[in-house]
Amino acid sequence: MYSYFFILGNNFALSIAEILNKFQPEKYSLINKEVLRVDFKKEFKVQKAIEKIGGTIKIVELLEKDYSDLLEAVEKYLPENFEGKYKFGFSFYGEGRKNFKGTAMAIKKELKSRKISSRWIISREINLSSVVVSKNKLVENEADFVVIEEKGKKYLGVTRAVQDFEKLSWRDYGRPMRDSYSGMIPPKLAQIMLNIGLQGKTDRILLDPFCGSGTILMEAGLIGVREIIGTDFSEKAIKDSQINLRWAKNNFQFKEKNNIEVEKVDVRKLSSHLGKKSIDVIVTEPFLGPQRKGEDLEKVKKSLEELYNQALIQFQKVLKNNGRVVMIWPVLRKTKKSFLNLELGEFKIVNQIPADLKLEKTKRGTIIYGRKNQRVWREVVVLEK
Ligand SMILES: C[S@@+](CC[C@H](N)C(=O)[O-])C[C@H]1O[C@@H](n2cnc3c(N)ncnc32)[C@H](O)[C@@H]1O
Repeated sequence: MYSYFFILGNNFALSIAEILNKFQPEKYSLINKEVLRVDFKKEFKVQKAIEKIGGTIKIVELLEKDYSDLLEAVEKYLPENFEGKYKFGFSFYGEGRKNFKGTAMAIKKELKSRKISSRWIISREINLSSVVVSKNKLVENEADFVVIEEKGKKYLGVTRAVQDFEKLSWRDYGRPMRDSYSGMIPPKLAQIMLNIGLQGKTDRILLDPFCGSGTILMEAGLIGVREIIGTDFSEKAIKDSQINLRWAKNNFQFKEKNNIEVEKVDVRKLSSHLGKKSIDVIVTEPFLGPQRKGEDLEKVKKSLEELYNQALIQFQKVLKNNGRVVMIWPVLRKTKKSFLNLELGEFKIVNQIPADLKLEKTKRGTIIYGRKNQRVWREVVVLEK
């Protein structure tokens, strides 16, 4: 078995749903809200994996468990010789706090005796972030030592890959067309939803029927989905998507064989443009309602329910029988949370949180993505026929 710890993003329920759908591991267990242990039968390509998922901050390989002395455990993994300055650090995920000063000083001493000059990298947070780990080349040095302690169990691991925060932020803020009026889904969330929809298979026909400026289409291209279709009823959205896709193709690794089409279509007439039962997966963030203050929430909710109900009827027509929909439904918030009430028809909601993990979810088995001060939260809904 090859054992890894996935260090989860803020929304750990979504991160877990993504990992389990994408990699379908042989075994997993939740250590705590930051760490999912995952065991694979075959060796796992860590760097490739982290580029294709949105909800994982670091992937850590298990080195030692139930060791008695941390210094002894780490010493086995220190270099015998090293050119330049060897930088190393510690990250801790578990109960309480941990002080690494003593261990770090002893490591420096040991390295000095091996004629290696070294620096202990620390940061203000308890853990070294992916930014600090990358900037100090700790993955290349195999030197972000990760200590996990939970319910009396001890693990030592080393970070093998970190989320590429620069590329993600460039895709978000660096692309030519941004549409803050209709809103943009964060690329990380787009990746998570795609992975939940695709379940590890890229040989699929994917549709985003509210494609906006093309975030989901771009991320689908990067994941390597075989056939990608984007539709939207706005001329501007279609143009923006085309420009962004061209930019993404030129700047990131898009597989040449990806077939991407973007077309102006009103979602209410989707099935007269696309063949019946022609789509494997729909991933989409529809219009979430006007974001201005002072809107009549009941009115907004009613008009959104109408649009979403019509969209769901069309999705049932164009989706193959074993197809999946992953979509955002807005949760409107003023004084209390207000969920959309929709007619699901043949669809049923598929809960993405395995029962044994006992994680919080809504009454209808969906996961909420949102922060305290946001006016609209996103409900991530997975539907199957
Ligand atoms: C929130 S945006 C989608 C954002 C997109 N996920 C992105 O990140 O760029 C919603 C989109 O829905 C489109 N839209 C609204 N009503 C529609 C309808 N009836 N048919 C098709 N598209 C519609 C709007 O033009 C807008 O581009």
